[in-house]
Amino acid sequence: MSDTGQLGAELDGLEREALEAVAQAADGAQLEQARVAYLGKKGSLTRVLRAMGGVSAEERPVLGQRVNEIKTALADAIELRGTGLKGEARAARLAGPQFDVTLPGYGQPSGHVHPISRTLAEITEIFVSYGFSVAEGPEIEDDYHNFEALNIPADHPARDMQDTFFIDGSDTGRDDLVLRTHTSPVQIRVMETTEPPLRIIAPGCVYRHDDDVTHSPMFHQVEGFMVDRGITFGHLKGMLTAFLRRIFDRELPVRFRPSFFPFTEPSAEADIGCVLCDSTGLQKGATCRICKGTGWLEILGAGMVDPAVFAHVGYDPEEYTGFAFGLGVERIAMLKYGIGDIRLFYGGDLRFLSQF
Ligand code: FA5
Repeated sequence: MSDTGQLGAELDGLEREALEAVAQAADGAQLEQARVAYLGKKGSLTRVLRAMGGVSAEERPVLGQRVNEIKTALADAIELRGTGLKGEARAARLAGPQFDVTLPGYGQPSGHVHPISRTLAEITEIFVSYGFSVAEGPEIEDDYHNFEALNIPADHPARDMQDTFFIDGSDTGRDDLVLRTHTSPVQIRVMETTEPPLRIIAPGCVYRHDDDVTHSPMFHQVEGFMVDRGITFGHLKGMLTAFLRRIFDRELPVRFRPSFFPFTEPSAEADIGCVLCDSTGLQKGATCRICKGTGWLEILGAGMVDPAVFAHVGYDPEEYTGFAFGLGVERIAMLKYGIGDIRLFYGGDLRFLSQF
């Protein structure tokens, strides 16, 4: 016991009681209650301090020091208990049945590239590896670049081959604008501004008034052309055969059939051996539904650039020759992935798109 009489004894008791109350506090609220009860303005220790008025001058500093000791001890004990309580609460939370670490998390579904964009990128990558550069042109095109300069004059029946969306010119005063029906106008735009030699591909969106399982009003083409001295049909055949085998990732048979395009002469259509029936024309004993039993699939249009086109861009056809081709990207994607209806690409149905 302290030698400062009754007050000292009271302080000792108070200290024990206070430390006990702190140790017993079961949560933050009870701990705060104990703090206020002993250290607060109206708390027990403050009361004792006030009572020191009646204590002798020699005893006062001794008691004052004792009070300070108790205050410090109590403050330390409160802090320690507070930390302990927080730890206990956390441990209780972690141990509780509501926290099940085996539950699956909330995954963020990740998007991915559209199958047409992916096919476009693959095609582009192959031609870039052959030394081609990529060019672009406007989707709203004028009659001159979409038809006239490609040797398709206004009254030419070849215009009927491409069902065209015309743009109403009543606001702009321009009555010669169309949604481009193919990527071939990019040939003209590049040749107008660049001298040979040229090795260009032009991927992009094109539009036609078409709509069925293999035709969409908006679709994609990749145009390709190469102009230099001494370019022959042999270069065209070699390059396209190599390309088709690479994009379909197999040694496909490839054949070239005579065809007609106003901007190429001679013109050809390239066919590949049917990827579904392996060129047999039969699938499970029945006629193959993709190649209709022929064993061949038409895949692109091509030819040697017509001298009339060179005349429009100011190239000398005696000096330069070139080849050009145009392929449908949806068609290649449908064959690559076995898709029967072109409209699936643009229906926005995630059950379809998430398969790629
Ligand atoms: C052309 O568009 C020519 N410009 C291609 C060309 C370029 C020939 C350079 C010679 C030299 P065609 O109309 O056949 O040709 O179209 C080319 C490809 O586009 C077709 O083989 C087909 O795969 C695709 N295609 C055409 N119309 C549609 C459509 N509505 N929906 C989806 N694909 C289409």
